[in-house]
Amino acid sequence: MELRYGVAGAADAANLAALSIEVWLHTYARDGIRQAFSDYVLSEFTAAKFEAHLSSPSQTFVKCERGEHLLGYLRMNFAAVCPTVPELTTEIATLYVRARHARQGIGTALLAHASDICRRRGVMGVWLMVNHENAPAIRFYEAQQFQRNGSRTFELGAERHENFILWRGLTP
Ligand SMILES: CC(C)(COP(=O)(O)OP(=O)(O)OC[C@H]1O[C@@H](n2cnc3c(N)ncnc32)[C@H](O)[C@@H]1OP(=O)(O)O)[C@@H](O)C(=O)NCCC(=O)NCCS
Repeated sequence: MELRYGVAGAADAANLAALSIEVWLHTYARDGIRQAFSDYVLSEFTAAKFEAHLSSPSQTFVKCERGEHLLGYLRMNFAAVCPTVPELTTEIATLYVRARHARQGIGTALLAHASDICRRRGVMGVWLMVNHENAPAIRFYEAQQFQRNGSRTFELGAERHENFILWRGLTP
């Protein structure tokens, strides 16, 4: 069955939440599950929070499905000012592809669909944050011509993690 890309809606909220928990834990809980991780994913990735994101006029989700199965998604926020390049106001807030379906071009295709949506809205550049230890994702974004511009600290309970800020211009 073919991969299908499209804009997600309210009916996708539960699948987006479940996929997020799966990808987040796979990416960051390298040594196992601990309390701070469980508290974070169960409070952050709920169907209710995704319903709120999906109904926000400043956010758009692009999803990748095969048949009725969600494989990955990208969330854009058009009203998020970049901390280090304030003229950039469109953030790639999330880009998650299931590990079982990684390295098949899905992340690249989600980014290409999102970039098309941005160009149609007149957006000239996008920014995002990536954990400084997330080497695979950093390599992915480098392959997509993103450049680094500073960093910010992300707080998870009492823990502090450095996030690199990356950005990419979009040609009209
Ligand atoms: C990072 C991520 C979005 C990439 O999506 P993907 O569908 O696997 O990426 P693609 O198949 O489109 O990869 C395109 C290119 O990016 C680079 N790349 C992607 N994953 C990589 C990895 N694990 N290691 C090294 N390079 C990688 C490669 O150059 C790759 O091309 P190639 O496979 O021909 O060598 C996905 O792996 C993911 O969701 N990871 C977990 C969550 C995450 O870290 N998200 C980003 C946080 S901000």
